[in-house]
Amino acid sequence: MKYQNILSIETSCDDTSIALLRDYEILNNIVISSSKIQNEYGGVVPEVAAREHEKNIIKAYKQINNVIQKNNINLNLIAYTYEPGLRVCLNVGESFATTLSSLLNVPTMRINHIYAHIFSFYDELNKQDLEFPFLSLVASGGHTTIFLVNSPSDIKVLNETLDDAVGEVYDKIARSLNLGYPGGPAIDNLYDDSKATIKFINHHANMQFSFSGLKTTVLNYINSIKMKNNYIDVETVASSFQRNVVDILIEKLKYYMENYNIDIIAIGGGVAANSLLQQEIRNIGARKIFIPKKAMCGDNAAMIAIYSRLLLDFNM
Ligand code: KG4
Ligand code: ZN
Repeated sequence: MKYQNILSIETSCDDTSIALLRDYEILNNIVISSSKIQNEYGGVVPEVAAREHEKNIIKAYKQINNVIQKNNINLNLIAYTYEPGLRVCLNVGESFATTLSSLLNVPTMRINHIYAHIFSFYDELNKQDLEFPFLSLVASGGHTTIFLVNSPSDIKVLNETLDDAVGEVYDKIARSLNLGYPGGPAIDNLYDDSKATIKFINHHANMQFSFSGLKTTVLNYINSIKMKNNYIDVETVASSFQRNVVDILIEKLKYYMENYNIDIIAIGGGVAANSLLQQEIRNIGARKIFIPKKAMCGDNAAMIAIYSRLLLDFNM
């Protein structure tokens, strides 16, 4: 096979990742996160993240190179994230990829990070189960989008947030509740269905995703309690917020399932790791659901390699 062995690079935000794919089998997927460092700044500072990528990309490559040498792997392609993301961070991955490409004489392929999130379930899937078209919700720190996916190279946006992304709102609310960064897993871990008692917003208001209203309502609620020096019931606020967000995501997905007559649903992106979202997706009434394993939800290079290989296979 012409593209049997693919090395991939991901540096769009605060995770430095290099992976090795052999015929859709992930041989290695190294992710070095700088989120602890970002936590000290209260969020991702692009220049700080870029500096971490510069250090970590060498470390990750050394580990991958050991696997390449040990298994005598002949690389056929270097796939890397070129958009979207933090420009200074993407630049680190791109210059590493192009340098490696000229040193090893292996071609490169530029990959859209968000499209790679869409197909991050693929390594877990029985390959014959892949079916088009499907609806995909990609929710991360920078994006909240529902796509209509007709093939790996035919992807249409149906709904995109007008303002904040879901992950970003998770991070801001978690920060206000002193739960640290990234906020998604922290809030998810606290979730208790019986404590989701506050209805922050009426989510039927808008056809298009919009999360800044919900964010402001929750933050105002927290601040008003803080100002009165009253006790904040963190679990109740976190659980109610999570219930509100997941209800909005599910409601919109249902709308597109009905209106486009599609009964296959995929999710991807950091927020796809959310336990309540996964539970509700399983109950959404779809004929097939494609859910990535947790390690593949967040940013990682394996999904970059998988998507590059799918593009090659489907366009042949
Ligand atoms: O896809 P990703 O790793 O990076 C971006 O491309 O943004 O997504 C990171 C986002 C963060 O905002 C993080 O708080 C959120 O995904 N996240 C979650 C969960 N795990 C990560 N949000 C909700 N529930 C989770 N379990
Ligand atoms: Zn991402």
